[in-house]
Amino acid sequence: MIRSMLALTAAALLFSCTKTNSPSDATATSSANRDAKSNHTKVIGFSQIGAESAWRSAETKSIQEEAKKRGYDLRFSDAQQKQENQIKALRTFIAQKVDAIVLAPVVETGWEPVLREAKAANIPVILVDRGITTSDPSLYTTLIASDFVNEGRMAGDWLAKKTGGKAKVVELQGTPGAAPANDRKAGFAEVAQKNPGLQIIKSQTGEFTRAKGKEVMEAFLKSDGPNIQAVYAHNDDMALGAVQAIEESGRKPGKDILIVSVDGTKDAFQAMADGKMNAVVECNPLLGPAVFDAVDKISGGSQVEKKVVVQDKTYDQTEAAQALPTRQY
Ligand code: AHR
Repeated sequence: MIRSMLALTAAALLFSCTKTNSPSDATATSSANRDAKSNHTKVIGFSQIGAESAWRSAETKSIQEEAKKRGYDLRFSDAQQKQENQIKALRTFIAQKVDAIVLAPVVETGWEPVLREAKAANIPVILVDRGITTSDPSLYTTLIASDFVNEGRMAGDWLAKKTGGKAKVVELQGTPGAAPANDRKAGFAEVAQKNPGLQIIKSQTGEFTRAKGKEVMEAFLKSDGPNIQAVYAHNDDMALGAVQAIEESGRKPGKDILIVSVDGTKDAFQAMADGKMNAVVECNPLLGPAVFDAVDKISGGSQVEKKVVVQDKTYDQTEAAQALPTRQY
């Protein structure tokens, strides 16, 4: 209790205290920063991973729109899948003395030095959609994300039920080292362990992109073609790449080879309605409102949860066809 009150006070202080320049960072005060301070608009730095998937573009849009709606000055940086670019962006935000940083970390490890710099500068960090590995959780204020391990379990459970626990599966993994790639793999593997007939016969990264998902699926079809009974893709873009590869090989995606993935994009719902994909575990990217609820709370000195878990749901073809007309991303 006392601990959480202290955390709350610290978070409130991080937002409200007036930051003074040390001699070493005096030159770093940018004109943008001076402008922001003079009109009292809160400045938020957002370091985004890139635009590798429809999911990510929807997340970016949601955060940008919500910032605008609530009157925040959002500084956006696209890291093009590189952690070094995210670290650079964070250092720029720190130099600009932003009021808070929103970080979608591309991989789980390697953040501690830069997050210590943010902490030393009294800037709260909100992790969005992906978590990090750290021995010091005080380096971030809150994490807003889905439970990726559970998403992997949900995909595995769906496939186990559909096949009676027997299928030769190829797995398209996300970006190496990324939380959703590690965790979705682990969750699915748990289900496979309980269902020994559910065998992952090949597993490789498709980097969360449609082009790479297609390329890797083509290679799987060449090496293991007739044996493949199902695809488990860590996201919809790779699953849609696999759909193309399977069609081009002369087999029918969704019929000859079952396809289950994670995200719940409009294109995947369309593919399910068309019978080309079979099930999707929704991972909601519309995180703007939750992010700025947290920013508002921290700013106003209210308590924020250390972790806000976004709820996920599995859709099959029938449910996808029904939901398609109102699908938002
Ligand atoms: O971190 C969420 C994952 O990242 C989404 O599943 C994927 O599409 C994205 O690129």
